[in-house]
Amino acid sequence: MKMKSFNTNGEFADNYKFLIGSILPRPIAVISTLNEDGTNNVAPFSFFTGVSAKPMIIAFCPLIRSSTGQMKDTPINIFREKEFVVNFVSEEIIDKINMTSTELPYGEDEFKLAGLNPLDSDVVKAKRILESKIHFECIYRDHLSYGDQPGCGQIITGEVVKIHISEELEEGGRISTDLFNPVGRGAGNDWILCKERIQKDRLMTAQIQK
Ligand SMILES: Cc1cc2nc3c(=O)[nH]c(=O)nc-3n(C[C@H](O)[C@H](O)[C@H](O)COP(=O)(O)O)c2cc1C
Repeated sequence: MKMKSFNTNGEFADNYKFLIGSILPRPIAVISTLNEDGTNNVAPFSFFTGVSAKPMIIAFCPLIRSSTGQMKDTPINIFREKEFVVNFVSEEIIDKINMTSTELPYGEDEFKLAGLNPLDSDVVKAKRILESKIHFECIYRDHLSYGDQPGCGQIITGEVVKIHISEELEEGGRISTDLFNPVGRGAGNDWILCKERIQKDRLMTAQIQK
């Protein structure tokens, strides 16, 4: 196989396009937080993963804005309020969630812009998204920064203290992928639908040795 090779000490944009073109499909956390004046902020983040089951920890990575070199509103709010909500995306609400990624001036409410409805949380002050079928209420845990220049990333972790799952997603005590109808992020402006799947049993050591 003929391969092209690149060093990563060049431009942000070159690294970024290979990062988002390679790590996919990526899950999407739609993070809602409170602004300083008590209004709502919402934005999607696809540099997102689960970290620990108990304690239940998730991580996501807001980059320093490449356009302005500023910290995004979501981390600013989390460092002040110490809490946030992760809302999950199903196919039906892709367009509205995409709208929440609009870079509005600080303090302007992406719930309103996107036509999403805020729902009170049980533990944290940040609102949940009514139209989202799974919500994780999170308390801020850790922060690891890789710099403060445009395009630098950081890891923010949160402990999930309360989960809300729409009853319509449940099948036999688990979340049904079919009923959830989740989506992922691809390269560029791609969104990945999850309609086709295959199942593979995991072999145990004993089965391999037979
Ligand atoms: C599907 C999707 C995934 C995104 N993932 C990320 C991400 O992982 N990290 C990031 O810094 N920005 C990401 N963005 C861009 C942010 O959502 C965007 O910069 C947003 O304006 C940030 O909002 P805030 O300033 O309210 O935090 C993503 C955008 C979309 C549409």
